[in-house]
Parts: sequence; structure tokens; C-alpha cells
Amino acid sequence: MRSGHVRLLPDVRGKVNRKTMREQILELEKEALQELEAVSDLSGLDRFRIAYLAKKGRLTALLKDIASLPAEERPEAGKLANSFKRNLTERFEGARRRLLAKEEEPLSSLDITLPGREPARGHLHPITQVMQEICHIFGRMGFRVVKGPNVELDYYNFEALNIPKDHPARDMQDTFYISENVVLRTHTSPMQVRTMEEQPPPVSVIAPGKVYRRDSDITHTPMFHQVEGLLVDKGVTFGDLKGTLTSFVHQMFGLDTALRFRPSFFPFTEPSAEVDIRCVICGGIGCRTCSNTGWLEILGSGMVDPEVYRFVDYDPEVYSGFAFGMGIERVAMLKYGIDDIQLFFRNDIRFLRQF
Ligand code: PHE
Repeated sequence: MRSGHVRLLPDVRGKVNRKTMREQILELEKEALQELEAVSDLSGLDRFRIAYLAKKGRLTALLKDIASLPAEERPEAGKLANSFKRNLTERFEGARRRLLAKEEEPLSSLDITLPGREPARGHLHPITQVMQEICHIFGRMGFRVVKGPNVELDYYNFEALNIPKDHPARDMQDTFYISENVVLRTHTSPMQVRTMEEQPPPVSVIAPGKVYRRDSDITHTPMFHQVEGLLVDKGVTFGDLKGTLTSFVHQMFGLDTALRFRPSFFPFTEPSAEVDIRCVICGGIGCRTCSNTGWLEILGSGMVDPEVYRFVDYDPEVYSGFAFGMGIERVAMLKYGIDDIQLFFRNDIRFLRQF
């Protein structure tokens, strides 16, 4: 075993024993390189640096010893020591690079050429989409969107729409009552009255929103959506109603969709008509969806009853207009060929994704 300590032995003429010095350098070099070889991680490498290369390390000590050699011997020893130092430093750097790379290996094994995963993006509910589409179509025809309360006064929901107290539509079977004079609106038609109350003619508005009825089966839910339309001006005729709704049907269901106006009754329109479209499922041959009639009802409409104008101080001698109301779920079901209304409210992601 050799100690790291370098002893310089003077010969008889006072010269340093050069062989020993040279030997010491080569010994130290061998030892250092062997030790460096065995280093297996960065903290081991740092221990090596402190032992050899740092201020108090063995190589530094050796270089200091050389400085104290007699001048004529310094060059040779210095040369040898310097080449040792260069060699050791080079190998040390090499080992450092190798160990650094090894430590970063998990990172460098990432395949950065893999395409990214697109985050799942949500979209609007199909009912909202259809509602917006309906509003856009009427918006292009000059109708303005208005909204009103879901919890509605009996007055707006029934009374001012010419639905008197004893009318069957007010039955507890059909209507959610909050109190004697307050209901969950059963249709969007109260917005006809609210709009006319607020502004003089001409009016042309569209009112989308939620409505509530005590009903629940494959084609009914206790809450569903409607869009109400109202247009009042001088000289508005049933022909305007037909033209407007025909244009709507063509834009919503396609230009080749046949439709028909069928006489009907609503307390707040006179005359009244329901609009049917040619069955989108069977094309008119007759099927389960259209109960073999070949037609599907999509909306109720009519000329605003003069009785309603009385409640809002419009002069029925000067003004006339039409109104219509349609169920959004129904329009969506027909547009997309869906036969169960409950699907819209179950919110099964596999169903919703299709829109
Ligand atoms: N409010 C009626 C309903 O819910 C539809 C309707 C609106 C009919 C406007 C005529 C005019 O069935």
C-alpha cells in the first residue's frame, strides 16, 4: 500500500530523487484512474472530485509539491504532472457527461414525435342547438328574441290569453300550481301578452324557453322547451302566417319537406291552425311514428284573437297579427329521427356525442 503522500528524497548532491517523484506521479495517476472507473453515479463523482481535483485534493497537493522542487527539476516533473492533470480532467469530464446522460435516461426515452392527444371538447346540448337554429331562422326574418319568467302569473299564462277560470287547460292534472295565482308556465304564450304590454305595434318577437306540464311518458316530460312567435302590424293576414311558417319548415327540415295547415282551436287565436309536415321517417307512406297518417304535427298557430288585444290596449280595428308555438324537443326528434323524448334528459354521453 502506498500512501498518497509524496516524499521527495534528496540524493547525495542534494538533488531530489527523480525516479521516486516520477513514480509517485504515475502511481497516483493509476490509482486515480482506477477509482474514476469505479464511480457509478454523480454523487460518487463528486466525492472523487473532492478527493483529487478540489483545492485540498491529492492532485492539487502534488502540483504544490512540484512547485517546491529545485528549479532545474521542475520542468520534467511539471510536464508529467500536467499531462496527468489534463488526462484526469478529461476523463473526469467524460465520466460526468456519461453519468448525466444516464441520469436523464427516462426523459430521453420519451418519444417526442408521438402526436398529442386531443382533449375532449364539449358541445351544446342538442336541444340548445335546435333552439338556437330556430331562433336564427326567425332572426333572419326579422324576429327579435325575448325571454320571460318560468314562474308565471295566472294572469299571463291563462287569463289574458282568453283562457277563463273554468277552462279545462287550467286543470290541476295539467298545470303545476305554485299558489292560486302563480303557476309554472304551461306554454311560452304568456310572452305574447308581456311583449305587447311593453311596446306598441309593430312587434315581431320570438320567445324560447322552458315550460312545465304534469305529464311524463315516451313523448312527454314534465319540463320541455317551446319557442313562441308573435307578429303584429297593420294589415297582417293569414297568408303572412302561412308564408312565414312555410319558409321556416323549409329552412329547418329541407326545401322538399311538404307541409299542411290543419284547422284547430286555441282560446287565444282565431282562426287557428296546426302545422303538419310530411313524416320524416316514412316519407308519407305511413308508419308507427306518424300513426299511419303520413303526417307529423309540429306546431300550433293562428291569428291573434281580438280578445287578447283587449288586455294590452291594441286596437283590433287597426292591427292584426299571428302567433305560433312549437315544442323544441318535438322538432329535434323529427329532425334527428329520435323516438324517445326522455333521451334528451337522461344525458347519456353516448347519445349526446352524436350531435
Ligand atoms: N301555446 C300553444 C301550445 O302550447 C301553442 C300556440 C302558440 C298556439 C301560439 C297558437 C298560437 O300548445
